[in-house]
Amino acid sequence: MVKRIAINTGGGDAPGLNAVIRATVLAAINRGWECYGIRDGFNGILNPDRYADGGVFRLTRDGVRGIAHLGGTILGTTNKGNPLHYPVQMPDGTTRDTDRSGEILDYFAKEKLDALVAIGGDGSLTIAHALHKMGLPVVGVPKTIDNDLDKTFTTFGFDTAVAFATDCLDRLHSTAESHQRVMVVEVMGRYAGWIALHAGISGGAHSILIPEIPFDIEKVAEKVRWRDGLGRMYSIVVVAEGAAPVEGGREVAEAAGTGHAERLGGIGERVARALQERTGKDARVVVLGHLLRGGSPTSFDRLAALRFGAAAVRALEQNMSGVMVSLAFPNVEYVALEEVAGRMKGVPLDSDTLQTARDIGINFGD
Ligand code: F6P
Repeated sequence: MVKRIAINTGGGDAPGLNAVIRATVLAAINRGWECYGIRDGFNGILNPDRYADGGVFRLTRDGVRGIAHLGGTILGTTNKGNPLHYPVQMPDGTTRDTDRSGEILDYFAKEKLDALVAIGGDGSLTIAHALHKMGLPVVGVPKTIDNDLDKTFTTFGFDTAVAFATDCLDRLHSTAESHQRVMVVEVMGRYAGWIALHAGISGGAHSILIPEIPFDIEKVAEKVRWRDGLGRMYSIVVVAEGAAPVEGGREVAEAAGTGHAERLGGIGERVARALQERTGKDARVVVLGHLLRGGSPTSFDRLAALRFGAAAVRALEQNMSGVMVSLAFPNVEYVALEEVAGRMKGVPLDSDTLQTARDIGINFGD
């Protein structure tokens, strides 16, 4: 029996998506199966008229040639197309939160598609879990630069983001030192401090502010002054976008709306202003933002992504559903989507990585 499977990518893109797609398609075709790609999350099914050459298209061996090293996703993605809370435009101009998940199942039945490989982060895997509970065979693949998914050692995309941020920090040391400045570097990561912590340690930051540890700005200023006292006249501060001071007040760039989560941003500017006021030193902000999501995946992410894609096909071959492929060194294994959906993995306060930072004198503003 030929299996017909569909693949989609949802949420923010991450380096390695194309490697997962390639491995999934090749592993499926090598078993004699057919593979289809859904464009832009589920929009290819929910809004097919938007696509001149079809919202769902056949993925062939040729179609996935030479893509493993490319950033982005050949399927397109969206973080504003949750089928469970789809923003439907009303005649009076307002939008209504509508559950369109049933249309996905109808489409799979009509097109005789047997299963879905859903590549995504927390939001997309929560949708995948819901579809599985409705009866659609689904295998999830953990993606996000934020590394905030539970039950997997890491997600693909994270290593690339950390490598890039570390390179940026390396470059900022010399200009910060030349001008005797405080350089504040804001990185993405949503409500978790993984990117800030790993890049901050690797890139020699002097202070790292993460959502898991509310910071006292005076403690950060003290560290800057302490370094000045030693004749080290510059400081590098890495701030995760979700970090907040002890008195509270996370910086939100855009409030949550129908079908999309809130967008964070702005804490770097706030920290830089406060440090300039408190230390009298010049402070500058660099927001790495979406640069962290672009470019070629590192070999670690590429290999993890290829392994995840092939493992997803093996899971479907064994008629598994409602599971996510997970990295459990040295192997990949499968965990129930139920254990992942809606759960965020922050930096554990007792992790040795955090302890390493403290041991070498990095300040967390606490
Ligand atoms: O989840 C990935 C991520 O890049 C977060 O780090 C960030 O908060 C968010 O997506 C940004 O979303 P958008 O692409 O909508 O700006």
